[in-house]
Amino acid sequence: MPQNIYDDPDFFRGYMDLRENESGLNAVLEEPAVYGLLPPLAGLDVLDLGCGFGRFAAYCLANGAASVHGVDLSENMLAEARRRVADPRACFTRQALEELDVPANSADLVTASLCLHYLRDLAPLVEKVAAALRPGGTFVFSVEHPMCTASYRQQWVRDADCRPQHWPVDNYRMESIRATSWFVDGVLKYHRTTETYVNTLLDAGLTLRRLLEPEPTSAAIAARPDLAEQRRRPPFLVLAVDQRG
Ligand SMILES: C[S@@+](CC[C@H](N)C(=O)[O-])C[C@H]1O[C@@H](n2cnc3c(N)ncnc32)[C@H](O)[C@@H]1O
Repeated sequence: MPQNIYDDPDFFRGYMDLRENESGLNAVLEEPAVYGLLPPLAGLDVLDLGCGFGRFAAYCLANGAASVHGVDLSENMLAEARRRVADPRACFTRQALEELDVPANSADLVTASLCLHYLRDLAPLVEKVAAALRPGGTFVFSVEHPMCTASYRQQWVRDADCRPQHWPVDNYRMESIRATSWFVDGVLKYHRTTETYVNTLLDAGLTLRRLLEPEPTSAAIAARPDLAEQRRRPPFLVLAVDQRG
């Protein structure tokens, strides 16, 4: 049974506050990287895995997508998505990605922003994505970067004045669960190597188109100096792959 931390009230409040105030890294780093890898959305049938509160679904519809199917485990997230994206072209269903059930050959674009690191096993999901994609379709996803998830203690090592000294990368080859603290203690994620992410996609017959490790621009750092530390190690890994045409 996967952990459903987004239905924990304290976690949900903290997460939504972060997203609504854009004080995290999503709007400044992750979304521009993911959106930059998307095909033109007009007329596409989109499957958004771990759709959260529907922000990406709304973006797809605003850009002419024919339909968006958002899938998520969290009732809190799905309720927000349905409230925010009241459009007949959108539907949101409650499914664990571990048991994803979508028709074969039904999507032109599959996306998964910052949710696949919650899955213990990546390959079964990627095989279902490959089956769901129509010929020539695209799968774009982001995860916390393996350099960030490797260490069991996912925190900067700081000096006595609390300045970050370095980010520890340790136990890189130990692909397994990590219990972290983010808004609440005991948030479970799964570390896997970059090699595993890439090769799982290739093994499913998908073709690698782009790999990104987005960094903040100088303008973003000028506006938000705290972002400078995101250049010391990459916070996200973003991959785009294509189904054969
Ligand atoms: C960091 S949020 C990202 C939400 C959305 N993709 C976005 O970028 O705005 C991760 C989402 O993945 C969902 N999630 C986590 N584990 C899941 C699982 N095993 N099955 C389905 N959804 C899951 C969470 O409920 C949450 O909505």
